[in-house]
Amino acid sequence: MGDSCKKAYITTPIYYVNDVPHIGHAYTTVIADALAIYSRVSGLDTWFLTGTDEHGQKIEQAAEQRGKSPQEYADDISGKFKALWDDMGISYDQFIRTTDEAHKIGVQKAFEVMYNKGDIYKGTYKGHYCIGCETFFTDTQLIDNEFCPDCGRATTIVEEESYFFKLSKYQDKLLEWYKENEKCVLPKTKKNEVMRFVENGLDDLSITRTSFDWGVKLPANMNDSKHVIYVWLDALMNYVTALGYGTDEEKMDYWAARVHLIGKDILRFHAIFWPAFLMSLDLPLPTHIAAHGWWTRNGEKMSKSKGNVIDPKEVSDAYGVENFRYFMLREVPFGGDGDFSQKALIDRINSDLGNDFGNLLNRLIGMSGKYSDGKVTSENVSKYYQAELDEVNGYLDNLEPLLFNMQIHRYLEELWRPLSVANKSIDKYQPWVLMKENKEEEALALNGLIANILAKVAIMLHPIMPNTTKKVASALGFEINTESFNSLIKSKELLKEFIVEKIPPLFPRVEEELLKEPDSKKDEPKEQPKTKNQKPKTKETGIITIDQFFQTELKIGTIIEAQEVPKSKKLLKLQVDLGEERPRQIIAGIKEWYSPSDLVGTQACVVANLKPAKLMGMLSEGMLLAAKDDSGLSLLRPQSPKQSGTKVS
Ligand code: ME8
Ligand code: MG
Repeated sequence: MGDSCKKAYITTPIYYVNDVPHIGHAYTTVIADALAIYSRVSGLDTWFLTGTDEHGQKIEQAAEQRGKSPQEYADDISGKFKALWDDMGISYDQFIRTTDEAHKIGVQKAFEVMYNKGDIYKGTYKGHYCIGCETFFTDTQLIDNEFCPDCGRATTIVEEESYFFKLSKYQDKLLEWYKENEKCVLPKTKKNEVMRFVENGLDDLSITRTSFDWGVKLPANMNDSKHVIYVWLDALMNYVTALGYGTDEEKMDYWAARVHLIGKDILRFHAIFWPAFLMSLDLPLPTHIAAHGWWTRNGEKMSKSKGNVIDPKEVSDAYGVENFRYFMLREVPFGGDGDFSQKALIDRINSDLGNDFGNLLNRLIGMSGKYSDGKVTSENVSKYYQAELDEVNGYLDNLEPLLFNMQIHRYLEELWRPLSVANKSIDKYQPWVLMKENKEEEALALNGLIANILAKVAIMLHPIMPNTTKKVASALGFEINTESFNSLIKSKELLKEFIVEKIPPLFPRVEEELLKEPDSKKDEPKEQPKTKNQKPKTKETGIITIDQFFQTELKIGTIIEAQEVPKSKKLLKLQVDLGEERPRQIIAGIKEWYSPSDLVGTQACVVANLKPAKLMGMLSEGMLLAAKDDSGLSLLRPQSPKQSGTKVS
């Protein structure tokens, strides 16, 4: 992407309709939306695609459990995704469904092209299949020879006649593509993972199923009607069938500039299978495949199959959809995981948005009202504040690459620097003092500087907060569009004279959490954690999955203080450094075996995410691990000292 291409094509994954949308889906879609809005404002002819993935055994079963036909069920959930995107103001140009007739024709066409090219052959497939994840696993990937490494549910052995795609044939070409296109997979760490995987060798890929019906049939002339096309071939093809591949190819020229946004869970499908399919079809490869991390709840991946999801609609309704958008994009470094917390969201609203941005506009409204009846001009800005302008323009010049290299949190971080220049300038030049000293021209020029900074920031923030920034622009007497983008950002021009509109504060302070914590229910004994249709198979056998194990956060702590607890035979009060801002207080029942002086300076293994508890009226913020037998108790410690806070795994 960039100035050289006139077109931009931006896609989200098409979401499975096996359950309702959550914040993870909203995250991907909002990033894509931000890119699409930026592309449009910067003058590119943009096509933004999203949609739903509706075939496969998982969907067939979900429908059956609800007594619906797969199509009825898919219509229902697909509608919910669409409604959510509409509620969230997502500016998609097209919403594709894999049950669309044109899509199915395109998929069959692709199958035919690959087959005629000799890239597809018939064989037998045998493997451990997880229905929930629609994925086959090898013996070594399974947990305890049976359970899915991703979701923990039991897999089944599937043996069936299958058509295969010669993925192995494309191994070298793929490696060449990764090497020649530095940014084809972002972020870089993810690209390295993909390359290592491909270097280890690729097996051919089973691309049809006979064990269920709900999918795209093979092309009629193959005369093999018991096969349906594997969901991933079906799903990935959406990116080109949406543009008319195999039917009406009029929009295919958008395929010239392509950004696929995805979560890291589906990176291999996008960074390995998809380019190989495209090579086989003789179509150009994606420009960027950008994989973000996971949203977690209490450290666990949020997912439909786990039932620990946050409803983006609820969050948007409570906090405002654009505040929520800003939070998601600012809070988490792209590619990393982020834990959802209302506290963090509230901080972002009150601090970044309220104090730094909204309040600046209020100050401008106040000062210009007082000094010049609301009139603001850029007239003498350069005369008095050229240094500040230069600094601001310097920050703005560096923004675009951050966006298209998917460093969106950095983009927003950098975008706040001009605001800080503005806020600091007010404190430094004190316009109220200037006014008293009869330096009116300087004071009014300062208002001009503030207004211009607000205007430029509003344009660059527009992709993330489209409506809020429209209000800011309108208060400053201009509109956000390609013209103002070109003049105020690209050509670094200044605003024309205007009268500030006195709009109400954009970001009223949020004083307390507005949503009931979804997890608080779980503390009440009557409410068992939701398992929905999914049997907790692993529980019955006493076996837990690796995910369940990692719900317990174990860390190495250094005991920096230890005291006896008066009147207690068993308890010691410890201060334990876990590498956090302050040490944790831990009340441990180990006095019979350890004296305080034994402990200070030593390390122990700490359960770090236990709910704090009170013991004899004292707060305990963790638990030490220890082993006890007839000979007494010993703490578990690392064999050699480790940094405080080191994770145990
Ligand atoms: O995989 N955190 O659909 P899907 C962040 N149909 N993002 C998350 C997330 C989480 N906890 N959970 C889901 C499919 N996502 C296929 C895609 S594309 C040709 C076919 C987001 O409904 C993330 O973008 O399981 C992830 O890639 C996508 O939802 C998966 O959605
Ligand atoms: Mg998924």
